[in-house]
Parts: sequence; structure tokens; C-alpha cells
Amino acid sequence: GLERISYAQTQPSENIGTRRANSPTLKKFTLPFRTPPVLQPVRSDSQTDYYEITMRKAQVEILPGKLTEIWGYNGITPGPTIMQRTGRQSVVRFINNSLGTPTSTHLHGMASLPEYDGYAEDLTFPGYYKDYYYPNNRAATIWYHDHAIHATARNVYMGLAGMYIIQDQTELDLPLPKGQYDVPLIIQDKEFATNGSLIFDDQGQKSQFGDVILVNGVPWPRMEVARRKYRFRALNGSISRSYRLALNTGDPFIIIGVDGGLTPAPVEVNSFRFGTAERYEFIIDFSKYPIGTRVILKNRSLPNNLDYDGKTNDIMCFDVVRDEADDSSIPSQLRTFTPLLASQAVRTREFRYERTNGQWVINGKTWNANRVDGTPQFGDIEIWRLYNNGGGWFHPIHLHLIDCQILDRNGRKPFPYEVGWKDVFYVGENESVRVIGKFGPNTGKYMQHCHNTVHEDHDMMTQFEVLQNPLALQSGNLGKDPI
Ligand code: C2O
Ligand code: CU
Repeated sequence: GLERISYAQTQPSENIGTRRANSPTLKKFTLPFRTPPVLQPVRSDSQTDYYEITMRKAQVEILPGKLTEIWGYNGITPGPTIMQRTGRQSVVRFINNSLGTPTSTHLHGMASLPEYDGYAEDLTFPGYYKDYYYPNNRAATIWYHDHAIHATARNVYMGLAGMYIIQDQTELDLPLPKGQYDVPLIIQDKEFATNGSLIFDDQGQKSQFGDVILVNGVPWPRMEVARRKYRFRALNGSISRSYRLALNTGDPFIIIGVDGGLTPAPVEVNSFRFGTAERYEFIIDFSKYPIGTRVILKNRSLPNNLDYDGKTNDIMCFDVVRDEADDSSIPSQLRTFTPLLASQAVRTREFRYERTNGQWVINGKTWNANRVDGTPQFGDIEIWRLYNNGGGWFHPIHLHLIDCQILDRNGRKPFPYEVGWKDVFYVGENESVRVIGKFGPNTGKYMQHCHNTVHEDHDMMTQFEVLQNPLALQSGNLGKDPI
């Protein structure tokens, strides 16, 4: 790996207080649910909306009666939600105001050009800004977060994460729940000291687990709902923790979306595994519950799971408080979907995510900006076999630039809820996951890494380079979306 950069040592708080005294006294399901504000552009022209986001430190009330220092986009965490439409371009000016540490902003799930992708070493220093161009090329629930080299986990933990929703007309024309019934859920775990400050402790570069669950920045919130269907866009914005989402009633979720947008068809599941940085969209139909019912969103992570702690079994609650008309419905087909076939792939690459000699490595190597591991040509379809040899760790693997489909998991079909276009692949202990994708729509260098951002920082990350295809150049196809 590279030498640690010295400013990565900047500490979140000078005064840490006593650990772990708050969560037992904080009563669950008392604080009101809220959603992050939607960001308005500072100006717009015929094709582009221009936004500005200032990264700064702020003191906010997360635990009642205490102030917590966060590092927020516009001083809040999660940051404001950006809502966009396909066919329009965004330019977001990320201003590093007073953080005291450099940043790089990645829009996770966007096929940005390399220079706007939040490359880990493309740092914006305090007192500077950078304008990022985003093409909004497909409808999906994605998110922006910090990606600074060796400091991503701490920067995201301190608050630098926000949601970005892209819609298109085809999706808006579906009769799914909309407007106030289309609700983001950003789930994160944090650890607080008695004085309210956040504790960042990665347990010797292994994982950061907190014992307080926040949804949209609020500990274990309570949401009032009507007796009707809601669409939820869930993002696991945690540093290391995975969840197994379930409802206390035993009723199913109706999964309608994954990382890269709507699934081909709705899928009913009673619970599902939810790794760091993944997105799952689901419908809960509250019409079957009488007014006065409390439905609890649970984390059914099992005691034999690596991140089980017995304390984070609850996430939030929904209190059914009123009747309401519901003209929404769930179509049996959500999107046209063509499975990529293994026979279409021009090659297979293998990536092993391991811990050796106290280091997080991919195929035995740590991050090196001067090395490229894999050079697919523009337009190539490839199979990547992602492998975790165990040792007590799971790795949610993220590929920048492209969406892929899961071909198989340990030689068997993927879970029904992970069928669709994805950019994060949960690779559990001793699991082998084969994914297939088409490289484009851009050429250049892009990162791939474990999205346990502690592992990523220490240095379970590498990069691939999409090369220009000489044939495509001749036919003038370069730069067009090959999918
Ligand atoms: Cu969500 Cu490379 O990151
Ligand atoms: Cu990992």
C-alpha cells in the first residue's frame, strides 16, 4: 500500500467522553421519522441543473438534549437528496469549506466520466471546490458519499453521505406509490460517547460497528403511516454492518428495485440480506393492519452472523394511524429486462478478497494507483468471479461505472431479490459469486473495492481500465451506451 497521508489522522472530536452509555437510556420508537430535504438547483438551463453543496462541520442534535459534531453536506447528515430525471444533466459543485481534511466525492451508481467519479486520489483540499458532471443515464436510487483515499470510512461515518434519485418517464407512468408515499430510508449504525460525540473505532482496521441505529439521521424513529401501500427506497449507508431486514409481523416485503433500478418483476420475501452500500426498494402494504397497529422493521441478523451484537435488532417502527384512499398498484412486470448469458462473455476474471498477513488484499495485493488489474475493452461482456475464502469476514464488493447481473452464487441461482442490475455484490464467507456485465459507456480507469469502507481504506481496493475498442472507434460508436 501507499504511505498513509498525514491528514488522514485528523480526529473527529477532541473530547471523546465515556463510551457506550447512551443507547441503553435512549427509548426506541419515540423520535419522529423524517426524510432529508430535497436540494434545489442554484440555476438551470435547457439541459442541465446546477447544484451547490458545501461540506462543513456542524453541531446537530441526534440524541435528545446532546450536541454531536458531524461532517455534513450542507451541514446535515444524511445530506440533502438530489432528485433528477433522465435526459437532464447535473453539475454539482462540491465545496470543501472547513472540514480540515481533503475530500473526493463519488456518486455511487452513476456512470460518470473518470474525472468526475470521485477517484480516491483526486482530492479536493479545504478551501477548494470541484464541479462534478453527472449524465443521469438511467432511473435508480443511488447515493453520493466521500471517497478520499484512506479516509473514506471516517468521512462517511462522520456524515458525508446523501441520496440521489433518478426517475424516468417509463417508471413514473407505472402505478407505484408516489410523492409522499415514496420514502427514502438511509440506514446507518453509530456509536456515541456520553457527551454526544461520535466514536469512530475501527477495531484495528477491521470494522466500525455502532450500537445505535439511525434512519435518515434519527435513532430508531417512529413513522406514522396510513392504511395503504408505501414505496421505500432503502440504502445501507453503514460503514461495515450488514442487516437482514424483516417485519415483526412476519409479513413479506414486495421487492421492486435493487441498486441499478427496478427489478424485472416484483418479488415477495420475508427477509433479505442487506449489505453495505446496497439499495433495495420495496413496497409495504399497511392496508391489512387495523389503526393502532405498530409494525416494526427488524434486523434479523442471526447470532452466528459476523456482525451480530444482540443490540441492533430494531431499526424503526411504522404506526398505522389513519385510513386513506390508495390508487397505487404493483404491476406484475416492472421493466423490460434481458438477462446477460454466460455464453456472451468474452472472458472471465477472478478476484479473491482475502486477509493475509494482517492486510486486506485483492488477489494478494493492496491498492496502488499505478497498477491496473483488468483491462476490458469498451463494449466487452465479461464474467467476474468474486471469491471470499472466509476467515471471519464478508465483503460487499462494489464495481464503479457498470451495473452487472449475478449469474450464480456458489454455483446456484442468486437469491430471488437480487435478480436485476446491481453494483454491489455481497460475498459472504466462502462464497463465490459470478457477475456479468458489459463495459461502458465510458473508457478509463475505475475503482473496484470492498464497501466495508474500513477494508477499502486499508487497502482492499484496485482498479480496472476500460480500453478503447479500435473497431468501435472506426464505426463511430465510441461513447455511446452499449447496453
Ligand atoms: Cu460507494 Cu467506490 O463506492
Ligand atoms: Cu471487506
